[in-house]
Amino acid sequence: MKHLMEQMKVCTSRMALAALDIFPGNQYYFERINPRFPMCIDMGYRRDTEDEEELTEPCSWEPSACSNGSLLVLGASGSGKTETLKKVGRAVIHHPIPLLIIDFHGDIVFPGQTSFLLSSGFDSCIGVNPLELPSLNHRLIGLRDQWLGVTAMLKRACPHLSQNQLAIITFAIGQAFRNAGIEEAFPWTWSNQAPRLVDVLDVLRKWGEDGFDCFSAASIRGCYNAVTSVFGHPVFNRFVGLDLNRLQNACTRIDLSHVDESIRFLVAETLLRLVFAKLRGLGPIPVNPASDKERYRLMILIDEAKILTCGKGDPDSRDRILNVLITEGRKFGIGLILASQMVDHFGQDVLSNVASLLVMKPMDAREAKRNAATVQVPYEDLLALRGRGEGYFKTGGNPRAVKLQVTMG
Ligand SMILES: Nc1ncnc2c1ncn2[C@@H]1O[C@H](COP(=O)(O)OP(=O)(O)O)[C@@H](O)[C@H]1O
Ligand SMILES: [Mg+2]
Repeated sequence: MKHLMEQMKVCTSRMALAALDIFPGNQYYFERINPRFPMCIDMGYRRDTEDEEELTEPCSWEPSACSNGSLLVLGASGSGKTETLKKVGRAVIHHPIPLLIIDFHGDIVFPGQTSFLLSSGFDSCIGVNPLELPSLNHRLIGLRDQWLGVTAMLKRACPHLSQNQLAIITFAIGQAFRNAGIEEAFPWTWSNQAPRLVDVLDVLRKWGEDGFDCFSAASIRGCYNAVTSVFGHPVFNRFVGLDLNRLQNACTRIDLSHVDESIRFLVAETLLRLVFAKLRGLGPIPVNPASDKERYRLMILIDEAKILTCGKGDPDSRDRILNVLITEGRKFGIGLILASQMVDHFGQDVLSNVASLLVMKPMDAREAKRNAATVQVPYEDLLALRGRGEGYFKTGGNPRAVKLQVTMG
C-alpha cells in the first residue's frame, strides 16, 4: 500500500511536470523526480508454457535486487538486442536515472536524449581529450594515472612500439603538461587547462629535429608516427570536450557511427575512461544507498560492445575499460547495460560479474553452445527461440532462467 501511494505521488508529480513540458531526459526531470522505490524495468512477459500464443506473467528487471546494476544481452543479429536496449534505456531515464549511451551504429534513438556526434565532420563540434584531468579528487588520484591510461591505449593500438618508445611518449606527455603550466610536483597546477595530443606531437616533432637525451631521431619519429596514426584524429584534438558534469543530469547519446572503424573503439574507450575517472573522483556511493538515485549515478548503455572489447589486445586484460567498469564501477555508482552476439566477445571479468543476463536467439548451433552455458539453458532450447525479442532471462533475484518475450515499446 505504501509502495502504491509512493508510486501515485511520483505519477502525479510526473503529470505536473509534463504539463510544464518537462519530460524524461530533461534536466529538470532528473532534478525534480526522486522516487524512493527501487527501479523496476518492465521487460515483457514470461513465456513458460508450450502454447506459443499464451503469454503469462509480466517479467521485470530490478537492478537493486541483484548484486550489481549490470545487464548483458546476447543474441544473433536480428534477434532483438537493440530493441531491448532501447526499451530498457527509456525505462531507466523515466525512473529517472542518468544514462550515457555509446551508440556505435547510430540506431539507439528514443525521445529524451541529447545526442552528440563525434566524427571528423563539421557537424561534430566537440571532442574527447585523453589528457583531460576530470578527477575531482587529486588527493587520491594524480597526473601519472592519466598518462598511464593513454600509453596503455597506445600500446594496444600500436603493439610494435618498443619499451623505449613508450618511455619517450611518456616523457613527451609530461613535457606537454609542463608547457601547459601543469607540473606533476605542484598539485595546485593540475586544475589548469590540460594540453591536447597535438601539443604532445609538437614536443615529439621538436625532439625529432633537435634530438632528445640518448634517443635516436628514428625512434622519436616512430613515436610521432604512432601517436599521429592513433590520436591524430580531430575528435581527440578539439578545444571543446564533452561536459562530464552534465552527464549526471541527462540522457546523453554519443553517436560514433560516423567515426572511422579503426579508431571507433579508442574514442569510446577514451570517453569511458574520462567518465570513470570523473565518477571515481566523486568517491564511493554510500554503503547503504537510500534510493536507486544514490545507487546509480550513471547507467552506461553500450550496444555492439564487441567493438570495445575486440578492438585490439586481450579482452581479459585487467586494464580494459569494460573490465574496469564491471569490477569497480558499482562502488562509484555505475550501472552497465551491454549487448553483443556472443559470450566470447567479453572478458572473464564481465562474464563472472554481470548480475543479469538475457540470451536471445543465436545465429547457429556453435553460437548457441557458447551462450548456453552462461545462462544455464540447454543449447537446443536457445536454438529453438523464435527471435524478435524472445529469450532466456536470468537475473539476481531469480537465478533460474525464465523464457521471456520482450515487448516492444
Ligand atoms: N520485442 C520484439 N517484438 C517484436 N519484434 C521485435 C522485437 N524486437 C525486435 N523485433 C524485430 O526484430 C527486428 C530486429 O531487431 P533488433 O533489435 O534490431 O535486432 P538486433 O539488434 O539483435 O540485430 C526489429 O526491426 C523488429 O522488427
Ligand atoms: Mg542491433
